[in-house]
Amino acid sequence: IRKIGVLTSGGDAPGMNAAIRAVVRTAKYYDVDVVGIRKGYAGLIGGEIKEMHSRDVSNVLNLGGTILHTARCPEMMTDEGLDKAAAIYKILGLDALVVIGGDGSYRGLAELVKRGVNGVGIPATIDLDMKGTEYTIGFDTAVNTGMDALNKLRDTSNSHERCSVVEVMGRDAGYIAVWCGMCGGAEEVMFPEEKENINSDRVIQQILENRSIGKRHNLVVVAEGVGGTQKLAQDIQEITGIQTRATILGHLQRGGSPTATDRMHASMMGYHAVKAILEGRENIAVAYNRGRYEILDLLESLQMDKELDPEIYDVIKILSI
Ligand code: F6P
Repeated sequence: IRKIGVLTSGGDAPGMNAAIRAVVRTAKYYDVDVVGIRKGYAGLIGGEIKEMHSRDVSNVLNLGGTILHTARCPEMMTDEGLDKAAAIYKILGLDALVVIGGDGSYRGLAELVKRGVNGVGIPATIDLDMKGTEYTIGFDTAVNTGMDALNKLRDTSNSHERCSVVEVMGRDAGYIAVWCGMCGGAEEVMFPEEKENINSDRVIQQILENRSIGKRHNLVVVAEGVGGTQKLAQDIQEITGIQTRATILGHLQRGGSPTATDRMHASMMGYHAVKAILEGRENIAVAYNRGRYEILDLLESLQMDKELDPEIYDVIKILSI
């Protein structure tokens, strides 16, 4: 192994820089050349590539975002784009392409593997919705950001005896919502995995019951994938008579200095990715399961199970009486 490429792809996640740093420095430690590819697959196709050395990743461990920049790349949905990306990989003489990104980035990488690329995935998304791994880089920071927001909203909604409806990120998954709900002490959480049980009547009913047991304010967390946050706040106010305010946290949760947990996992995953490449492993995904780092087959990892534990919601309800 003489030369590897590294890129970040899809939505950025705090801790991506820690992973880039770990990939670059582990490779340099073992005398492997590294090129950084800007703006994800778009930069690969566009040839936005530069050599990276240990000093290029100084002072980035603590930074949110990604120093390599990122993009969502529609060209990776076409045969032409995929062929071009694979051709550039070969022209660059890369022995592996390390992709730090989420589910969509892994699926793009799987297509490149079919075209002869040695693809190596490091899981990074604030949403946590990646198969085969219990942990994804960025989730912990995003949840902490959401929890801080809930703490602040609790102050004001308690003072005014109001209800606060807070929308957190999570396009198809409720991990951020239920974690924020639990850690921020929410009375109710609405998340996509509930499917047919997603029901604003239930939330309103709960708020009325809470009033009857002496609760003076309510926090309701809604996952972005459920949506309808403003409307829910209006309905709560109209039906219960309790003043209600909606807050949509949006991209706030994607930024910020990564937590210790994100820095730790990102650093270890970056290290394990390069070690596995040096050991001759091909087409792999780094994962963290049951307290250990694992090297999975990339294509198999995409087929693995992943489910939000419904017990978390049950416990939120028990603890909010
Ligand atoms: O996948 C991470 C995520 O932050 C989702 O929670 C959200 O739905 C999406 O990205 C937003 O994407 P974009 O930044 O492209 O608008």
